Amino acid sequence: MRILLLGSGGREHALAWKIAQSAKCNKLFIAPGNAGMGAVGENIAIGVNDFDKLKEFVVEEKIDMVVVGPEDPLVNGIYDAFKEDTRTVSIPVIGPSKAGAVLEGSKDFAKAFMKRHNIPTAAYETFDGTTIEEGMRFLETLKAPYVLKADGLAAGKGVLILPTLEEAKKELREMLGGMFGNASAKVVIEEFLSGIECSVFVLTDGIHYQILPEAKDYKRIGEHDTGLNTGGMGSVTPVPFATKDWMARVEERIIRPTVEGLKAEGIDYKGFIFFGLINVNGEPMVIEYNCRMGDPETESVMLRLKSDIVDLFEGVAEGNLDQRQVEFDSRSAVCVMLVSGGYPEEYVKGYPITGLEDIEGSVVFHSGTAQKDGQIVTAGGRVIAVSSYGKNKEEALKKSFAEAQKIEFKDKYFRRDIGQDL
Ligand code: AMP
Ligand code: GLY
Repeated sequence: MRILLLGSGGREHALAWKIAQSAKCNKLFIAPGNAGMGAVGENIAIGVNDFDKLKEFVVEEKIDMVVVGPEDPLVNGIYDAFKEDTRTVSIPVIGPSKAGAVLEGSKDFAKAFMKRHNIPTAAYETFDGTTIEEGMRFLETLKAPYVLKADGLAAGKGVLILPTLEEAKKELREMLGGMFGNASAKVVIEEFLSGIECSVFVLTDGIHYQILPEAKDYKRIGEHDTGLNTGGMGSVTPVPFATKDWMARVEERIIRPTVEGLKAEGIDYKGFIFFGLINVNGEPMVIEYNCRMGDPETESVMLRLKSDIVDLFEGVAEGNLDQRQVEFDSRSAVCVMLVSGGYPEEYVKGYPITGLEDIEGSVVFHSGTAQKDGQIVTAGGRVIAVSSYGKNKEEALKKSFAEAQKIEFKDKYFRRDIGQDL
């Protein structure tokens, strides 16, 4: 098969690494890719939202399957754009339709969907510019801390957790006043849930689903979960509290009703569903849905997926995912993210990266890198993911931390406490 993967981050490098191992893949293109992905495929300079150019490329290069990494093109309707074009209608796109991507693209839609299908999640109400006063009164009925969420995509910055009623009211007014542009034209206010988070991933063909290894990610920049939120500083799989019994409850109460609910509502969904869960007194509840894999979870989860991922994608495309085998590696896998000093605030790009060729026994995924004058340089906040196996998470982490020392770039930073809370 000739496969085109869309995206340019660590998640996509991990997907590309896994796809390239498939006996069913004889050519992999990545649009636009990054400096690391050239080792597993061929990078193509087309943006993920340039649907016309992507379709032309797919036709010209006789691509058999398109795999979508990030949420943006999905929310913008890449699946539908391919379906509506006679030249590309028969080429499977792994990723939901625009209607399905709304699970991630609108928090209000996701919450209402969960309510309709009795899926456990925090109590909530949604407000807009015409119901600000109602929003203020709703806040008064809740206890601190207060959770405000911009309805639309806000580059991971749209959720505010405020310690006092006063701040919550002020922020609600600002959000509805356009703080996140159109994304916060509607704001979801929800009950605060206390517990440890866990990311659960499934692949679905719209009827059947297969559950992939779960993972925990580390969002804050500082050790012991302090400081600003980032795209993710590391991940660990498996997650100790996601026992067989807990996962059975996740499947029964969350995964199955979600897949069945999508089908019942006539929503075309063939791709990944990422369930952002929280363990509240031992019971799983949904914090959010995403219509794609997680980053940096993919950088550890792909290490534990033993099955041929292209075989699974074929099952998604053909609607017979139930007949495909999903096998997990019983070892632990972790990812430690090396980031630019200053991230997630201001940081400098373009610093040379050295030591990549000295890595042994770990897998390096590029997140924000570029090729410049024959050298690999930093090109993002999150730069390199160092992923490792171990017989347990301690062994895997020890390995990643040791290898992380070998990679150098100016102002390199990484969290040394990944996995310590588990
Ligand atoms: P989201 O974009 O919905 O995943 O929210 C970002 C982060 O905010 C989550 O990963 C949680 O850490 C936190 N969060 C979101 N909703 C809640 C909630 N209802 N209670 C507690 N924390 C939350
Ligand atoms: N790691 C969280 C995300 O990808 O949204």
